[in-house]
Amino acid sequence: MSIAEAVRALGDGDLIHLPTETVYGLGARADDAAAVIRVFEAKGRPRFNPLIVHIGSQALAEEIGVFDPRAHALARAFWPGPLTLVVPVRDTGAACDLARAGLDSVALRMPDHPLALEVLRGFGGGVVAPSANRSGRPSPTTQADALEETGQAVRVTLDGGPCDIGVESTVVSLLGDARYLRAGAVTRAQVEDIIGLLAKDDSEGHRSPGRLSLHYAPDARVEINIDRPIAGCAYLAFGPTDYDGPVFQLSAGRDVHEAAANLFRSLREADRLKPALIAIAPIPQTGIGEAINDRIRRAAGFIG
Ligand code: TXA
Ligand code: MG
Repeated sequence: MSIAEAVRALGDGDLIHLPTETVYGLGARADDAAAVIRVFEAKGRPRFNPLIVHIGSQALAEEIGVFDPRAHALARAFWPGPLTLVVPVRDTGAACDLARAGLDSVALRMPDHPLALEVLRGFGGGVVAPSANRSGRPSPTTQADALEETGQAVRVTLDGGPCDIGVESTVVSLLGDARYLRAGAVTRAQVEDIIGLLAKDDSEGHRSPGRLSLHYAPDARVEINIDRPIAGCAYLAFGPTDYDGPVFQLSAGRDVHEAAANLFRSLREADRLKPALIAIAPIPQTGIGEAINDRIRRAAGFIG
C-alpha cells in the first residue's frame, strides 16, 4: 500500500500502521475524537493513558505545544529521533482531549523514519500513534508483527522494514522540573548534556499515566537476570550460552543496541513455542540497556 493511501486514510479518520525507527505505530489523526477512539478500542487501551502526537515539522510541533528554551534545545538535538517531549498544550484542538486523556499537556515526537516523515508531511496535521500492539503485549517491530496485533483495525498498513531501534522512544517531561519518564534510545545522560541535571524522583507511575505493570508481556511467564536457565525454558541470551534448549540470541557480541533491536521479536518468537517459562539473560544497565531492563522488568511483572 502507498503513502498517498495512508494520507487519505488519515484524512478520513481511519487507522494506519505507521512504521517508525522505534516500533510500529497505530496511527490516527490527532484532532478527531472519533478517529482517536478507534485507536483506544483497537488496542484495548485504557482511556486515561494519553497518546503521543507525531509531527513532521517543528512549526507544527509549536502550533500544538508550547516550547520553552529546554524544549527547543532538545528538539534541535534529537529530532527527528527517538525522543518524546511532554510540554503544555495550546488550546487549538489540534490534539483532541481524548488524545491527551484530558491533560493540559501534550506528548510530541518527530520520528526518524523516511516513510513516517513522508506520511506526516503529506498529511500535514498531528497523528497519534501508540505502539501497534494490543494493550499490555510486546510492541511490534516488523510489519508482520503489527498485522498480527492490529491488522483487523487498519485501512492501510505500510512496510518500513524491521525497526532500527526496537524499543519505544524516550519520554521527557518539561512541565516544571525536567523528568525522564520513560527510558529509550536517548539516554538520561544525553538529555542532561543538553539541558542540565534532570529531577531525581521520576515517579513515573504517577506522571506518565500509562506506565502500568505487566506491559510488554508475552503469554508465557517471564523471569529476568537468568544466567543458567532450567530445562524447559525458552532462553533469551545475551552473548554465548551453553543452554541446550531453545535459545533466542539478543546479541552474540553483547551489544545493547543489537539486543534492543531484537528484544520484542525474540519475546514473540519464544512465546510461540509455548514454553513453561521465558528466561532472559542479565542485560547491562548502560546506554539503551536501561530501556531494555525497564521493558523486561515490566514483562516479568516487577514494576507497578
Ligand atoms: O516510540 C514511540 O514512542 C512509539 C512510536 C510508535 O512512536 N509510540 C509509543 O506510544 O510508544 P505509546 O502511546 O505506547 O506511549 C506513550 C507514552 C505513555 O507512557 C504515556 O503515558 C506517555 O507517553 N504520555 C503521553 N502523553 C503524556 C502526557 N501528557 N504526560 C505524561 N506522559 C504522557
Ligand atoms: Mg506501547
